[in-house]
Amino acid sequence: MKSYRYALFDMDGVIVDTAKYHYEAWRRLAEGLGFEFTMADNERLKGVSRMRSLEILLEVGNVKNLPSDRLEELCRMKNSWYIDYISKVDKREILKGTVETLTLLRRNGIKIALATASKNSQIILERLELKDLFDAIIDGNLVERPKPDPEVFLKAAEALGGNPDECVVFEDAYAGIEAAKKAGMYAVGIGDNSNLIGADMVIPGLCETDQILQLFN
Ligand code: G6P
Ligand code: MG
Repeated sequence: MKSYRYALFDMDGVIVDTAKYHYEAWRRLAEGLGFEFTMADNERLKGVSRMRSLEILLEVGNVKNLPSDRLEELCRMKNSWYIDYISKVDKREILKGTVETLTLLRRNGIKIALATASKNSQIILERLELKDLFDAIIDGNLVERPKPDPEVFLKAAEALGGNPDECVVFEDAYAGIEAAKKAGMYAVGIGDNSNLIGADMVIPGLCETDQILQLFN
């Protein structure tokens, strides 16, 4: 088996349990617009940018032809609720195994990057004191094309000084798995097999430390 040197982690739903706050804010927005937005609908939003998420949500609610300033306003509303939620989070929201696994990887000489579509990564990493676990941070402020475009992962590999075929990506979103495969990387799905078609391997979470470390031996 090939052994990898670089580990790229998505943020929401992989290292922190923030996916539920994204969902809550989107659900609230949909409610205000007069339609229901279910958890199943929400799967389509995971990993994709804020504006693209809004477009999908409006598609679900059959809301059409809103002018761009209204779209911007809706994104701002969603984000202000989301920031309200995450400004109260504490270390209990760090997903199980994150600190242990990333610390052990580092101890084994593996370089680690955060690769997320979120523009709120600084707030979250600072609040949860996770910043020091990463050698590089590439977030939504640094990329132009959202997942499933591979840009975020290619930039993260470059920031670490690695080649794509030396990288393992950890992702909970289908769009992220697609992006990782397009980047030519090994893709580990986090969560449920059925949502993560195309992943090279699926594990329930970063608590599977031994299985993860084996990829880097
Ligand atoms: C992640 C999440 C998405 C979110 C996107 C943008 O990829 O999985 O649900 O929409 O980041 O996040 P932001 O915090 O910038 O709205
Ligand atoms: Mg995610």
